[in-house]
Amino acid sequence: MDSFDLVIRGGTVVTASETSRCDVGVRDGRIAALAERLSGGAREIDAGGKLVLPGGIDSHVHIDQPSGDETVMADDFVSGTRSAAAGGNTTVIPFALQNRGQSLRAAVTDYHKRADGKCLVDYAFHLIVSDPNEQTLGQDLPALVRDGYTSFKVFMTYEDLKLNDREMLEVFDVARRESALVMVHAENYDAIRFMTERLERAGHTEPYFHGTSRPAPVEREATHRAITFAELVDVPIMIVHVSSADALEQIRWAQSRGLKIYGETCPQYLVLTAEDMRGLNMEGAKYVCSPPPRDPESQEACWRGLANGTFATYSSDHCPFRYDSPAGKKRKGEKTAFRWVPNGIPGVETRLPILFSEGVVKGRIDLQQFVALTSTNHARMYGLGGRKGTISVGADADIAIWDPELRRPILQENLHHGADYTPYEGMEITGWPTTVIVRGGVVMEDGVIVGQPGHGTFLKRDLSPFAKPQGKSWLPA
Ligand code: URP
Ligand code: ZN
Ligand code: ZN
Ligand code: ZN
Repeated sequence: MDSFDLVIRGGTVVTASETSRCDVGVRDGRIAALAERLSGGAREIDAGGKLVLPGGIDSHVHIDQPSGDETVMADDFVSGTRSAAAGGNTTVIPFALQNRGQSLRAAVTDYHKRADGKCLVDYAFHLIVSDPNEQTLGQDLPALVRDGYTSFKVFMTYEDLKLNDREMLEVFDVARRESALVMVHAENYDAIRFMTERLERAGHTEPYFHGTSRPAPVEREATHRAITFAELVDVPIMIVHVSSADALEQIRWAQSRGLKIYGETCPQYLVLTAEDMRGLNMEGAKYVCSPPPRDPESQEACWRGLANGTFATYSSDHCPFRYDSPAGKKRKGEKTAFRWVPNGIPGVETRLPILFSEGVVKGRIDLQQFVALTSTNHARMYGLGGRKGTISVGADADIAIWDPELRRPILQENLHHGADYTPYEGMEITGWPTTVIVRGGVVMEDGVIVGQPGHGTFLKRDLSPFAKPQGKSWLPA
């Protein structure tokens, strides 16, 4: 009788704390043994010359998330998680978005209908709170946190999503009481509107000017304001998709004052700049996301933030729209001015290869940092610690076997997402995943998806250990 369902042989196992040469034995979907030489498995995978990594956890993706109007996202939960698996991921945390006038509970039910039975990798949901009324704050939010939806995102911009300062404070206050983790999209709505109107009046409406309409000070101010509110209420927060040195400095300043302010950055801020869009006219829409990619100095700052620990996580912010289809509307039909271009770019499949190639291979970060930034820290930050994001006995057997020497460019024709382009077309990458395993089941092999929709299960999450208040609130007792 085989002692294991699966043995991964001869690879170099990498975790956030160490690197070791050993076999990995998997039984009943979990890691059952790590040792120099394990006895037989019903199935064996030769990982000689390869790295054996905890599968990627992408804690910031948007899948099948309609945006207010008729715009359709390019990925549903089948294609979105297929693309995630192809890129070395074993868990994703997309959002369940509350529309104004909708109950938060109804939003969660809706997103489960979209996702359940369709995912190839494991999944959970963050909540997006856009209507912080009495029902939301007093009942649905606390109840949903207890049901395992232990994090939520608030927006300081976007027409249909933005909260005002008072609403932000109310949501932060619930998060403090429930020990939930708040993610913040930090850009100043009014400043963007003001800039947008001035640009339009001057005839600057091409997608390139999307970036011009929300320069770094717009992000810096909102980041500072969110930090101030977090301090006032005594709630830890995660500033997501940080793009600039200015915002990074705010986060570092808060951290140096002992505040629990966390940061996340994304591939677009490491390898794209505003210049990539210049002169492209409507094609520039392919790069429109918020905050926008900026300049080489901002890129350097984001790399610095990854290397020195200011950023806890590195996520894709995968938010795919098709460029060339009437339903996808990256171009928004007749309305060609940048203000009508849906914000967001695809990236769940290219996140890990980009960081490996540009970060590890080029010596900006080491393997331990790579694993922490792409997997382990996401699990710990969002209440999946111990279970996900590591290779240790008892943890789920979520594994990406990685060929650190495989060299090939990113090409749209090889990707599995529903978008019709990648903003990284042609980028040379060294290091790709070759096999991806979710709870012991192989979902990707030699670049070919072999997993089935429905293999991925919903994850009810614990409270984040990073969301505990610090006991120094300015609020009356
Ligand atoms: O442009 C972006 N980032 N779109 C996705 C939504 C968000 O704000 O994260
Ligand atoms: Zn955002
Ligand atoms: Zn996002
Ligand atoms: Zn299965």
